[in-house]
Amino acid sequence: MKKIGFFGAGKMAEGILSAIPSKKGVLMAEKVAERAAELKAKYGVKTTDDVKDVAKKAQLLFLAVRPQDVASVADEVRDILTSDQTIVSIVAGKTLARLREAFGRKVRLIRVMPNLALRANAGMCAITSAPRTPKEDVEAVEAILGGAGATVVLKERDFDAVTALSGSGPAYFAYMEEAMVEGGIALGLKPAVARLLAEQTMYGTAKFLRESGMPLRPFIEGVCTKGGTTAAGMKFLDVPSFKKTVAATLKAAADRSRELA
Ligand SMILES: NC(=O)c1ccc[n+]([C@@H]2O[C@H](COP(=O)([O-])OP(=O)(O)OC[C@H]3O[C@@H](n4cnc5c(N)ncnc54)[C@H](OP(=O)(O)O)[C@@H]3O)[C@@H](O)[C@H]2O)c1
Repeated sequence: MKKIGFFGAGKMAEGILSAIPSKKGVLMAEKVAERAAELKAKYGVKTTDDVKDVAKKAQLLFLAVRPQDVASVADEVRDILTSDQTIVSIVAGKTLARLREAFGRKVRLIRVMPNLALRANAGMCAITSAPRTPKEDVEAVEAILGGAGATVVLKERDFDAVTALSGSGPAYFAYMEEAMVEGGIALGLKPAVARLLAEQTMYGTAKFLRESGMPLRPFIEGVCTKGGTTAAGMKFLDVPSFKKTVAATLKAAADRSRELA
């Protein structure tokens, strides 16, 4: 097993760390001392405040800093990195071409687009790699991230769409939940009860669809019994403007992802 290191030990790094079976050998570079101490106490990982330590000691290097911090990390570690090491970037919008410019020609590169559900072990991670990155590295990353949810290996050209759909998706589903909760409260439910009903329904529906693999249209039509309550509700939701709004939402997010690259 390759030695795993992290540049940055924030929220997303912790989500990935929690999926790594053997955490004792993991080395995490983190600027915020209290945060480093917290992760050390919680998971038994080793920590450092210097990204160069990670670049010297680990082979699989998760890049988990914010986009604006990538250049400074790269400047510190570029001359240390060798062709046996692999950077696994989860940084939104940073393309393989930009990562190559930042980290130099030698290092192997993998790019991942995760989402926030990684923190609940139910993430969605899309994975892509630079041409010379060995397949075994991609498989190692798939195995790690697979412990924190679902993974899919895609071409990098799909990453703006992935960013729009699964990367930004948690906010969109939470917004739908908020609308359902507000609708429930308007019908007289207590806020906590409305939230439980909406959230469990969202979770259970996703779980059922995932486990059954049932196509969506027959599922929707099956719930909408003629003359029943769901059909009465769907008359309001199932209008062309709803899907147009969702499509426009995803397009705006994908456009923004392209701009940030
Ligand atoms: N959150 C999401 O939903 C999501 C989804 C997809 C992708 N991502 C990507 O995941 C990445 C991490 O996001 P996050 O939400 O986990 O960020 P975060 O919680 O802010 O974590 C980043 C951590 O790295 C530290 N850091 C920055 N520069 C460092 C350096 N040179 N040496 C050591 N530590 C350093 C930061 O410290 P300071 O705070 O002191 O700078 C911070 O504690 C981002 O690039 C983001 O684009 C996030």
